[in-house]
Amino acid sequence: MPKSKIAGLGYYLPEKIVTNDDLSQVMDTSDEWIQERTGIKERRYAEKHKETTSSMGVKAAEMAIANAGITNEDVDFIIFATLSPDYYFPGSGVLLQRQMNMQGIGALDIRNQCSGFVYGLSIADQFVKTGMYKNVLLVGSEFHSMGLDYSTRGRNVTVIFGDGAGAAIIQPSDGDEAILSTHLHADGTNAEVLSYINPGSHGGAHDPEGQEKYEYPDQEFGGAFITQKMWENEDLYPHMEGPTVFKFAVKKFPEVIMEALQSNGYTIDDLGMLIPHQANLRISQFVQRILGLSDDQVFSNIQKYGNTTAASIPIAFAEAVEQGKIKKGDLVCLAAFGSGFTWASALIRW
Ligand code: UT7
Repeated sequence: MPKSKIAGLGYYLPEKIVTNDDLSQVMDTSDEWIQERTGIKERRYAEKHKETTSSMGVKAAEMAIANAGITNEDVDFIIFATLSPDYYFPGSGVLLQRQMNMQGIGALDIRNQCSGFVYGLSIADQFVKTGMYKNVLLVGSEFHSMGLDYSTRGRNVTVIFGDGAGAAIIQPSDGDEAILSTHLHADGTNAEVLSYINPGSHGGAHDPEGQEKYEYPDQEFGGAFITQKMWENEDLYPHMEGPTVFKFAVKKFPEVIMEALQSNGYTIDDLGMLIPHQANLRISQFVQRILGLSDDQVFSNIQKYGNTTAASIPIAFAEAVEQGKIKKGDLVCLAAFGSGFTWASALIRW
């Protein structure tokens, strides 16, 4: 079977920088707390009413297309990963397609949160390897700042997240460059531990006490995804039990990285660069220590951008290449963990 490769990477970060001190003006937090627990110094926020999840994706996609040396007309399939879409439906994939004048080709939206880019890469890899598509555009984009809780109640979530987009073009490869393998996992046991459950159709059904809380459905026929009760309960924000997520993440990251290396007959010494999902600098440092990786084998940019979920890996990957930290022939591992829980890795010969 033919191989596939990443032929071009791109990224986009909104101009507006929001520092930890800026956040401490609106909620009870501090630069010291945020840096000590997460490593984050600042993040970017998109411009409300002008930028959208899909429009940021377009900018990243344009850069990836240029870096791959192709044009929009060459793209034959779109995969869009986000947890902060422009609309509840349709997905952001068709909105990006419209802005890029690519009407007619397929557009697939995937919802795998922090693992979205690696899940998408796996899908693109299979399509290219089977010969179905020749230039798959994969985009991860997030507009978190629109939907965060800026009161002190939301501080454990809000200080972590930032906006941005990353993209890649996946093509057939006839050289050594290749996506060697991808490894996808999920365990829904803890689905609500890191979640944004409203608006949705659940009506509290996963939690018997929740039915009363949501009063939904509130009539025999019809209803609404958003109810008055949700507003009253201020239950329209993301929820995260941080320490539980942290514990799972530091277990699953090393597992899925080793799975990628071992299934290709490599060891940790062969690894040129690990691009972990930028969830928390402490998580990346923990993983580095457990696996015995050196500082120049692990890339981090969370200090500047916070956690950009589906965009974090392609932004970090593109920056690492741009900064000359990944060279032709290097073995690169992408690894992600996030809401679902989902976790995934990809091993790439650059
Ligand atoms: O990308 C998706 C995957 N997500 C992750 O990987 C996130 C994983 N989890 C984490 O990164 C960490 O759990 C956090 C950074 C979210 C939180 O750090 P933590 O060390 O686990 O803190 P905690 O949630 O256990 O809270 C410790 C204390 C609490 O106060 P009390 O109860 O001890 O008085 C919190 O209320 O820190 C408080 N706190 C804050 N204080 C100042 C929580 N957030 C903040 C804040 N500023 N922003």
